[in-house]
Amino acid sequence: PNPSLLILPGDGIGPEVMAEVRKIIDWFEAKRGIAFDVSEDLVGGCAYDKHGTPLHDDTMARAQEVDAVLLGAVGGPKYDNLDFSVKPERGLLRLRKEMDLFSNLRPAQCFDALADFSSLKKDVVAGLDIMIVRELTSGVYFGEPRGIFEEGNERVGINTQRYTESEIDRVARSAFDLAMKRGKKLCSMEKANVMESGILWREVVTEVGKDYPEVELSHMYADAGAMQLTRWPKQFDVIVTDNLFGDLLSDLAAMLTGSLGMLPSASLGAPMNNGRPKALYEPVHGSAPDIAGQGKANPCACILSFAMALRYSFDMGDEADRLEKAVNDVLASGVRTADLLNEDGITPASTTEMGDAVIKALDAS
Ligand code: NAI
Ligand code: MG
Repeated sequence: PNPSLLILPGDGIGPEVMAEVRKIIDWFEAKRGIAFDVSEDLVGGCAYDKHGTPLHDDTMARAQEVDAVLLGAVGGPKYDNLDFSVKPERGLLRLRKEMDLFSNLRPAQCFDALADFSSLKKDVVAGLDIMIVRELTSGVYFGEPRGIFEEGNERVGINTQRYTESEIDRVARSAFDLAMKRGKKLCSMEKANVMESGILWREVVTEVGKDYPEVELSHMYADAGAMQLTRWPKQFDVIVTDNLFGDLLSDLAAMLTGSLGMLPSASLGAPMNNGRPKALYEPVHGSAPDIAGQGKANPCACILSFAMALRYSFDMGDEADRLEKAVNDVLASGVRTADLLNEDGITPASTTEMGDAVIKALDAS
C-alpha cells in the first residue's frame, strides 16, 4: 500500500501554506511516481466551528492509523475567549498526548542564500545543519507535586523535575537513531553537576549509547551548550536534551538561521507495527492572524516539514534532499516572501508564487 498521510491544515495561514504543500505532493506523484494515500480533516478553531470540539474523535482515530500527520497551524483571535477545554490548541495537545509523541525534532539549518539574513556572522552559520531532539512529554512541565501553596506567611510556587529511566531511554534511542541517519554524532545536554535528574539522564544516555557503537557520544552541561551553540554551532550534529532545556535551546538554535517562516519540526513517538514511528510534522510558527488571508505567508516551513516526513517517516532521504535543495535554489534565485526581506523596494513573492517557484525548481532538479 502507499504510505498514508493525514493533512490537517487548521486555521489562519495553515490552509494557505498547506495548499502549497498539496501542489508538491502532487508533483511527487506525477513526476517521481511516489504516491501517497492522502486524507484531509479539520483541527483547531475550524473543527470547533463544525463539531464543537477542536479535534473530532474520528480525526483522532485516523491520526493513530496513518504513517504521518502533517499539520498547518491552529488558533486565532476569533477563538481567544473560548473555554479552555475547547480552545484550538487543545486539538494539537490531544494529538501529541494520545499519539504519545515524546521526541520533538527541531532542525537548525542554514540555507546558503539566507546566511546574510542571520544576526550572527556569516561563517558561523553558513552550511549549518544541526538537529535538536527535545523530550516532550515529561520533565518539569509535568512533574508532581506542582502548584502554588501557602507556606508560613507567604506562597510558594512548586514544579518538580522528574524523569524515569524508561522516559530517558526512549528519547535517547530516538536521538541515536536520528544520528545514525545523519552525521553519527550526538551531544547530550543536562545539568548533572546540580540536578539528580541530570545525573540519571547522563547515565541512561551513556548506557543506550552502547547499542550504537558507531555514534560518537559526548555530554555537555546545558548552560555551556547554550554558549557553544552561539559561538560555533557547526561543532554539533544531533543534540538530545530534556523538555525544559530543549524548549530554550531549540528556540535559540532555530533563530541562529533566520525567520519563523522557514522552520519545520517533527514530533515522534514509539514505533508502530510497520516499524515507522508515530509522527506529527508541523511548522514551528502559528496561525499568524496578522497576515492570514492576504497571501503573504511563507509556505517554506510547511514545505520543509513535509521534507522531514519524507526523510524520517518514509525513508525517502534522497527525495527530502531534492525538496530541500529546491527551496534553497529558489531562495538563491532571489525569490523571497515578505518575512525574508529587510530592505524596502523589493517586491515580495506571495505564498502561491513561492510554492510555484519551488515546483519549478523541482522540475529543474
Ligand atoms: P505566529 O507564529 O502565528 O506569528 C508570529 C509572527 O510571525 C507574526 O507576525 C506572523 O505574521 C509571523 N509569521 C508566522 N508564520 C509566518 C509565515 N509562515 N510567513 C510569514 N510570517 C509568519 O505566533 P503568534 O502571533 O504568537 O500566534 C498567533 C496564533 O497562533 C495564536 O492563536 C497562537 O495561539 C497560535 N499558535 C499556534 C501554534 C501552532 O499551531 N502550533 C504555535 C504558535 C502559536
Ligand atoms: Mg518555546
